[in-house]
Amino acid sequence: MLERIARHLLCSSDPESMSVGELLALEPQSIQGLNDVWLGYTEYPGDPALRRELATLYRNIDADGFIVHTGAQEAIFSFMHSMLASGDHLIVHMPGYQSHYAVAQAMGVDVTPWLAREESGWSLDPDELDAMLTPHARAIVLCSPHNPTGYVPTRDVFDAIVEFARRNGLWLFSDEVYRGLEHDPATRLPAVCDVYERGVSLGALSKTHGLAGLRLGWIATQSKNVLARMSAFKDYLTISNSAPSEYLSKIAVRHTDALLDRNTAIVRANLDVLDAFLARRADRFEWHRPRAGTIGFVRLKLGNAERFCADLLERTGVLLLPSTLIDHGDAHVRIGFGKRNMPDVLGRLDAYLDECAA
Ligand SMILES: Cc1ncc(COP(=O)(O)O)c(C=O)c1O
Repeated sequence: MLERIARHLLCSSDPESMSVGELLALEPQSIQGLNDVWLGYTEYPGDPALRRELATLYRNIDADGFIVHTGAQEAIFSFMHSMLASGDHLIVHMPGYQSHYAVAQAMGVDVTPWLAREESGWSLDPDELDAMLTPHARAIVLCSPHNPTGYVPTRDVFDAIVEFARRNGLWLFSDEVYRGLEHDPATRLPAVCDVYERGVSLGALSKTHGLAGLRLGWIATQSKNVLARMSAFKDYLTISNSAPSEYLSKIAVRHTDALLDRNTAIVRANLDVLDAFLARRADRFEWHRPRAGTIGFVRLKLGNAERFCADLLERTGVLLLPSTLIDHGDAHVRIGFGKRNMPDVLGRLDAYLDECAA
């Protein structure tokens, strides 16, 4: 809600977006196709042609292994309601994206946070999983690349998580909405759905592609059970997707490489500016430089996050996200570096800090 009244966003989790015209310009002949889009219901799991395009992003998933949703958010809600019930147990990578735990908690699911270790770059330790296991455990939620820290597990850690899930028959719900926005492409991990038969990969055009306004997300999985249950549940949500959005999404997916190059270039340049700023302001802040995505999680050395963010917003119109909003104490703020105007907005934060010090 605050995002609508703040004048300068410095916590956005998505990269710079673009207009419909800019997207269509990637395929000039596509304008006529947009005019011809039929405005009836689309196929419930998503337009087959779109699902065929999405399959090019994975190694072991064909067009039948997807359910397209209205954003990643709908898919999270649907997974929780389709695959879990009150009294089940869910292990969730934290700090994290609120829906990863709040939807399940609201259903009466017992949630155990699996805490990332700040002192070691927000890393996960798979050896901690055994102690969290209960007889009712049904699933693990992993977010990789991670919101809000930009952490990407090493391949060994990733394999150990998959093996733990396999050994214990758990679903592994892997939020991969930032996959593709690794700052060094060599750190990119496989999609969980490609390597694990009970893995469910969550994708979206909102983050990596920078097209949140398309409201287009999906799950990809080898599990017929998940596909059947989530298809049935979608009947109670949006039924089918927006036909114009599916049309535009096909174009976006076909041009994944170009969109990734564009967004990664902005992110890399901004990240250098932000890293230098935080080093210069080391008396106030510390962080672990993110390895992927558009956001980082910064520790405040002075004061508390909620008060700091409220005062900053009131005096400058700049919005940062305090960690209280994601249930992780009151000492961190989420900062976004995906937008082209990030250096300007950061300048306002810099001026505010000077004023505070004066
Ligand atoms: C990690 C993560 N998952 C899912 C979502 C939801 O994405 P969408 O806008 O596609 O619903 C977000 C949005 O901020 C996110 O950061």
